[in-house]
Amino acid sequence: MGNAAQRKAGAGQQVQALRGVSLDILEGDFVAIMGASGSGKSTLMNILGCLDLPTQGTYLLAGEAVQSMDSDKLASVRNRLIGFVFQQFNLLPRATALENVELPMVYAGVAAAQRKSRALQALQRVGLGERSMHTPAELSGGQQQRVAIARALVNQPQLILADEPTGALDSQTSHDIMDLLSGLNRQGLTVVMVTHEADIAAWARRKLVFKDGVVLEDAESMSLSDWKCRAKVAVEL
Ligand SMILES: Nc1ncnc2c1ncn2[C@@H]1O[C@H](COP(=O)(O)OP(=O)(O)OP(=O)(O)O)[C@@H](O)[C@H]1O
Ligand SMILES: [Mg+2]
Repeated sequence: MGNAAQRKAGAGQQVQALRGVSLDILEGDFVAIMGASGSGKSTLMNILGCLDLPTQGTYLLAGEAVQSMDSDKLASVRNRLIGFVFQQFNLLPRATALENVELPMVYAGVAAAQRKSRALQALQRVGLGERSMHTPAELSGGQQQRVAIARALVNQPQLILADEPTGALDSQTSHDIMDLLSGLNRQGLTVVMVTHEADIAAWARRKLVFKDGVVLEDAESMSLSDWKCRAKVAVEL
């Protein structure tokens, strides 16, 4: 991907949130994005998630140029390939865990019975099968984030985009959520995660540090092939 992204800041002012960023994110990778507040992390995530288009340059998602897709195609690509996880969970407060997880399938036009069984399966996958009839207010922060992760998984995406997924959680709960995301990565999902914390970033294979809209540092803890090998062994054990 190569791009610049501009944001409108009141009275027609423009902020250049990303400047000539060029990067490839490969299938099966686990990438942490760090950098000071305002450095462009969420802007990048919005572009990766097809929520925003770059003002210049191109973004290829699974080999396809996102700019040339019409809005229907964009919505369907987003719904099919990408699962989103946010710091504040973004669950519907009056809906049960099950209904929250069913939501992306409502948009995807999946029949009601199938929706329910797939949502339950996703909740079981994140260890919340027993709590499916509870509303967010009846769940702990960590459990709410698990519901959000189940919702992100339910259309079987290839990419999980998590913007500060542990930002609202205590350290033990953060560890549990990272364990869950890491397990999903070992099963083959690509994970891109924004974090402000070094110990959370340490779960990833690759770390990108942004400053003022440019990549300041791009570090890998091991080669991607070794990482995938290690993951394969862990899944088989
Ligand atoms: N909706 C918006 N309208 C105008 N400017 C915006 C908007 N969103 C972000 N910006 C600006 O774009 C730049 C990058 O913001 P971005 O949200 O990507 O930062 P970030 O790295 O995610 O920060 P944080 O760690 O605080 O979440 C900043 O200068 C910010 O003020
Ligand atoms: Mg942000």
